[in-house]
Amino acid sequence: MYYKYRNVLMHFFYVKVLKPVLFLFDPEDVHDFFLIFGNFFGKFRLTRWKIKMLFGYKNKILEQNVKGINFENPIGLAAGFDKDGVLTDIISSVGFGFAEIGSVTAKAYEGNPYPRLWRLPKSKSLGVWYGLKNKGAKVLVENLKGKIHRLPLGVSVAFTNCKENLDIDTAIADYVSGFGTVEGIARYITINISCPNTSGGQPFVIPENYEKLMTALDKIPTSKPVFVKISPDMDHNAIDKFLEITIRHRISGIVCSNLVKKYEQKDLKDPMPPHGGLSGKIVFPRAMDLLSYMYKKEPKKFIYIFCGGIFSPDDAYQAIRQGATLIQMITGMIYEGPQIISEINRGLALKLTRDGFKNINEAIGVDNSD
Ligand SMILES: Cc1cc2nc3c(=O)[nH]c(=O)nc-3n(C[C@H](O)[C@H](O)[C@H](O)COP(=O)(O)O)c2cc1C
Repeated sequence: MYYKYRNVLMHFFYVKVLKPVLFLFDPEDVHDFFLIFGNFFGKFRLTRWKIKMLFGYKNKILEQNVKGINFENPIGLAAGFDKDGVLTDIISSVGFGFAEIGSVTAKAYEGNPYPRLWRLPKSKSLGVWYGLKNKGAKVLVENLKGKIHRLPLGVSVAFTNCKENLDIDTAIADYVSGFGTVEGIARYITINISCPNTSGGQPFVIPENYEKLMTALDKIPTSKPVFVKISPDMDHNAIDKFLEITIRHRISGIVCSNLVKKYEQKDLKDPMPPHGGLSGKIVFPRAMDLLSYMYKKEPKKFIYIFCGGIFSPDDAYQAIRQGATLIQMITGMIYEGPQIISEINRGLALKLTRDGFKNINEAIGVDNSD
């Protein structure tokens, strides 16, 4: 009861008071403000504790061990919100069970020209054209040194968005270098092949390039689980080919999915942003279709991490019952407020109990098995 009323109150405060103010400002400025604010509040035991009182939630039914990593709950922060690893001390207080830092690249990149982030409030979406802005893998490792990680941290690795990487072999060497730099600090590594905002497009969605990349990455010694993040714009034929290649390599998880790049004005209730990919509600049906398709084909070889337009416990429960082991989100948190994380966890725990499951892992894929 306490959590229910606390979350109703926090939701009211966020939607009626804080969000209208935040939405008066440029979205990238607000994002940067939260990085500074979160980094500062993560430094002190008192502020971490206070934030945990406002946003935390714990329930044994949500705990699972996945690929040797203990997750207190299945809801993670998706890649792109904390690109340089400055929020790692505060993320668990806000209620997340894990976080994917990055995407980070071997070399720093200042990002595409401004503006590069847009709100699409009626469509509950964001237009994103950062273009893999980040301070580089070495700075990320420096930022994380000496920190006590209170939750599992994955690192998303992409290739540096620069002219030289239009050459596939150079781009692969860039991935290998980024991977090698962060391997020691990551609990798992996600290979991001699906950023829609690089100057060369998504060259590693092309099967021959993907095969070459996977072969190069297989040679890096690591005991850490390696995942790959796919594009929601792939069709079932492309997924068939992707799975056929992925099975032959060291990938043990698939993050489904990244931003939508293929869209038209008729898909939106707001004006189309001038560039970039879209997050939020528009991703949900496409990512869900791909998750269902992949889980049906390969239920055991991989774990699936659903990402795209999660706004409620119902969304998360649907993904789990279709085959997702873990969930990631960003946009739902921006439109609904940070209490949505514990609200989703609380809702999941209630639904699992109602449906007779003793642990979340019993519910994975139940609606998608013969
Ligand atoms: C501001 C922003 C930046 C992002 N940057 C990255 C990134 O660097 N790497 C990546 O793999 N995905 C990135 N994404 C995509 C998200 O990780 C996620 O796949 C997508 O937003 C769908 O989830 P959501 O609807 O819950 O936001 C970004 C998304 C947003 C909103």
